[in-house]
Amino acid sequence: MTADIVPETSARFARMLGPETDDVIDEMDDQAAAEGFPTVGPEVGGWLQLLARLVDARRVFEFGSGFGYSAYWFARALPDDGEVVLTEVDQDELDQAREYMARGGFDDLASYELGDAIETIDEYDGPFDVVLIDNEKDRYREAFESVREKVAPGGVVVADNAMTAGPIDFDALSTLVEGDEPIGDVNAQTQGVYEYLEAVRGDPAFETGVIPLGEGIAVSHRTA
Ligand SMILES: C[S@@+](CC[C@H](N)C(=O)[O-])C[C@H]1O[C@@H](n2cnc3c(N)ncnc32)[C@H](O)[C@@H]1O
Repeated sequence: MTADIVPETSARFARMLGPETDDVIDEMDDQAAAEGFPTVGPEVGGWLQLLARLVDARRVFEFGSGFGYSAYWFARALPDDGEVVLTEVDQDELDQAREYMARGGFDDLASYELGDAIETIDEYDGPFDVVLIDNEKDRYREAFESVREKVAPGGVVVADNAMTAGPIDFDALSTLVEGDEPIGDVNAQTQGVYEYLEAVRGDPAFETGVIPLGEGIAVSHRTA
């Protein structure tokens, strides 16, 4: 159970005003609820679709795709010759992703890669217009460094769990972001998200903002 970062009334408002879901997304939401699987959720899903549209995305790369929830939202914004690369360490999740994407009519846009996303990215040339970082929290910075040169100028890097997640301690994370010393030990996941945020905020080629929906996404726009 993670901390709610916005009240449910605000989250519902965001869901109502965001892009509409479809039957496949509704089914994926039901599956996530039944299994307690940590998708980005519909409020963030809607933003992923919007962000892809805002940058006229043609190519998307995901670090950590699960059963295809975030990829499905991205795919809805891509042109017919677009591409979304799904990566996943769990074969069963990737098989489910393939089924969901096919049901949405997006199979032709999708590449499915089993294994460590941080190794998979080496096999792809850029540029990518949108990158989603949603793998192990203590490897976010490594993921960013592995893809940085492949992010198109004008493209965006989105990191999920920028504020919370099962192991993320929001109080410790905010204390670190404020430049103070947290009380007690900071776990590796919280430290990992902090180090990612510091890396991307300190990178002169990127401008970063946070959207406090779902578990919080950090959106970093490549300006140079
Ligand atoms: C939090 S889930 C979210 C998945 C998806 N982005 C969504 O919104 O539903 C993260 C997924 O990333 C996978 N994962 C974690 N580390 C990975 C890595 N290094 N390479 C590929 N997949 C990874 C996990 O198995 C898990 O299914």
